[in-house]
Amino acid sequence: MPEVTADVRIRALDELDLNGIVRIDEKITGIYRPDIWEQRVMFYTRRDPGASQVAESGGKVVGFMLGDCRAGEFGLEEPSGWIERFGIDPDHRGKDLGRRMFDAICAHFKAEGATSVRTLVDRTDEPVAGFLKAIGFGESPLAALERKL
Ligand SMILES: CC(C)(COP(=O)(O)OP(=O)(O)OC[C@H]1O[C@@H](n2cnc3c(N)ncnc32)[C@H](O)[C@@H]1OP(=O)(O)O)[C@@H](O)C(=O)NCCC(=O)NCCS
Repeated sequence: MPEVTADVRIRALDELDLNGIVRIDEKITGIYRPDIWEQRVMFYTRRDPGASQVAESGGKVVGFMLGDCRAGEFGLEEPSGWIERFGIDPDHRGKDLGRRMFDAICAHFKAEGATSVRTLVDRTDEPVAGFLKAIGFGESPLAALERKL
């Protein structure tokens, strides 16, 4: 059942939410990139239907959180949830929508057998790092590594 509070509804992502997500991303980044978001929305709605979430206010998408439950990747045999991308319309921040979408995606991951949820963060992005800390993310024994090619 979708969660409803006041006029805001947290519900599973649908392919029809693409335009709303493109608009939020453009508002946050200043870049209009429908092709990239179409790929991501199609990927997540097919890969783990019901996991990714949106926040809808007055019938308009004002937030999104994309992720999926995976097992067997990077030698991690047990299923775990992965959060890839999220964004809240700047006019709708500070109303717990990020936290509520997170709770909803985690409920889905748990129902799929996951006992942990993972993400990657740019530590220099203080707002996003601060949000992730506030919703309970901490250091992991897994580390993201990279080298130039
Ligand atoms: C980070 C973001 C998701 C927060 O969403 P939000 O709905 O305003 O957050 P919530 O109201 O659910 O807040 C949940 C918790 O996070 C904390 N939090 C939210 N924004 C924060 C920030 N900028 N810095 C530190 N903590 C923050 C809140 O204080 C709250 O903690 P509390 O419950 O202990 O008080 C939102 O600001 C955002 O979308 N930022 C841009 C993300 C981005 O760049 N995306 C690019 C596209 S992928």
